[in-house]
Amino acid sequence: MKLSPSLLSADFGRLAEEAKAVEGVAKFLHFDVMDGHFVPNLTFGPPVVNALRRYSPLPFDIHLMIDRPVLYAPRFQVDLQDVITFHVEAEDPPERAIAAIRKLGCRVGISLRPKTPLESIIPYLDEVDWVLVMSVEPGFGGQKFMPEALDRIRQLRELIGSRSITIAVDGGINTENVRTVVEAGAEVIVAGSAIYGKPDPAAAARELIAACHA
Ligand code: DX5
Ligand code: ZN
Repeated sequence: MKLSPSLLSADFGRLAEEAKAVEGVAKFLHFDVMDGHFVPNLTFGPPVVNALRRYSPLPFDIHLMIDRPVLYAPRFQVDLQDVITFHVEAEDPPERAIAAIRKLGCRVGISLRPKTPLESIIPYLDEVDWVLVMSVEPGFGGQKFMPEALDRIRQLRELIGSRSITIAVDGGINTENVRTVVEAGAEVIVAGSAIYGKPDPAAAARELIAACHA
């Protein structure tokens, strides 16, 4: 399991330090970009994410909860180890979002809300590197894990077949449920409040990893 701590639950006044705190234990840094349209919340955008490059060597896992990924994805500075994930429900057509992200040279991720049928992403599975399964309604950290996500992860694993696609899961993951999520087929675990909601984020991140083997 690879951990992708979500900075959404970090102290926004100390983002560089918060990113550094998980450097030795995380494999990615998860950025929740929100536009106030696709989800009823606003966070940060390309200038903030790009500025943090100087403070973290980790690959960036950029989760776009925005209606116009085609317009905004090109504003992120990315490399081949990074991933930009857009939502299949966004206003921009998925084919165009995939092309726009692919052009940047990073990995392409697709995500879907908990109630969106998995079938909606089948047409794009040959074109993406990563699927982000939402286990809460996107928009806010600290929500409760939706157990229906477990069956979706298993079904997704079947749908993916022999394709080389990473399954990431995002929302409500903690030391109590992380093992079940990984057993269902998640390879990347996104966690916000379970890491940055704790006084020692690095220790909390290590506990999440340990909980998978408990
Ligand atoms: C929610 C975000 C998540 C969020 C997860 O819209 O996509 O990445 O930060 O936070 P927790 O782990 O607290 O549910
Ligand atoms: Zn996210």
